[in-house]
Amino acid sequence: MDGMQFDATRRTVTPGERGAVAIVGAGPGDPELLTLRALAFVQRADVIVYDRLVGSAILDFAPDNCRRIDAGKRKGGAVMTQTAINALLVRQARLGRAVVRLKGGDPFIFGRGSEELDYLKRAGIATRVVPGITAATGCAAASGIPLTHRDHAAAVTFISGHAAGTNDGLDWAGLAHGDQTLVFYMALSTAGPTARRLIAKGRDPATPVAIVENGTLPTQRTILGTLGELEYLVHANAVSAPALVIIGTVAALASAMPREAIAV
Ligand SMILES: C[S@@+](CC[C@H](N)C(=O)[O-])C[C@H]1O[C@@H](n2cnc3c(N)ncnc32)[C@H](O)[C@@H]1O
Repeated sequence: MDGMQFDATRRTVTPGERGAVAIVGAGPGDPELLTLRALAFVQRADVIVYDRLVGSAILDFAPDNCRRIDAGKRKGGAVMTQTAINALLVRQARLGRAVVRLKGGDPFIFGRGSEELDYLKRAGIATRVVPGITAATGCAAASGIPLTHRDHAAAVTFISGHAAGTNDGLDWAGLAHGDQTLVFYMALSTAGPTARRLIAKGRDPATPVAIVENGTLPTQRTILGTLGELEYLVHANAVSAPALVIIGTVAALASAMPREAIAV
């Protein structure tokens, strides 16, 4: 038979399993947005290696004797390199521990989960990926913004803001077409170049945008405006990470949320 076959009979890693690693998505921040499976792995972990965006309320679900290791990376100075994280996961699994690699959102969306999975597989460590609610869907729901809508957007694209302003190989002319939603992750420092590039390729500067800071958390802010003023909105509101930028007419549907919503 042509092509690769997925072996569905292969045994999978279970919560609390020793000598194995679960790469678990912790969702966008609100602990209630953990999946039941993620919770089961966290509650039975011997060791949790977690990222900066994973809040303490989620770590509180771990057993008291669980070792919590902060692998959070900060811009400009990595707390722990990816190589060191990979080696740590293998070492902990080989010590016979039930290891959870806990990552913000979904491990396979701008989360380097695939790199860790690949490394663990090559080291012969049993590994399982547990999906999480990604920031785009979490922030959209928390702001009342539907990412697709029959009257507004027939498509939604998740884009790394790191790409904007570089020779990234993205089809910017295609991204500039209307009737679609663009969600930029890690977009604060490139908000200006992103907006200018889209407008240069024909996207209407009056296109609604929403910036969602600390989405799903009690500190969430949803800032509304237009593509033409995106860079200004980021600076005028002193938006800080983590924040997402949602571009498209769906952004204008942001409902009046109980949390603070500012339109500058
Ligand atoms: C390295 S990416 C990780 C994304 C993650 N794997 C996911 O699926 O959401 C980090 C970026 O995700 C976005 N992000 C994560 N959590 C967020 C939140 N609670 N509110 C707004 N943006 C968030 C921000 O753009 C942040 O810079």
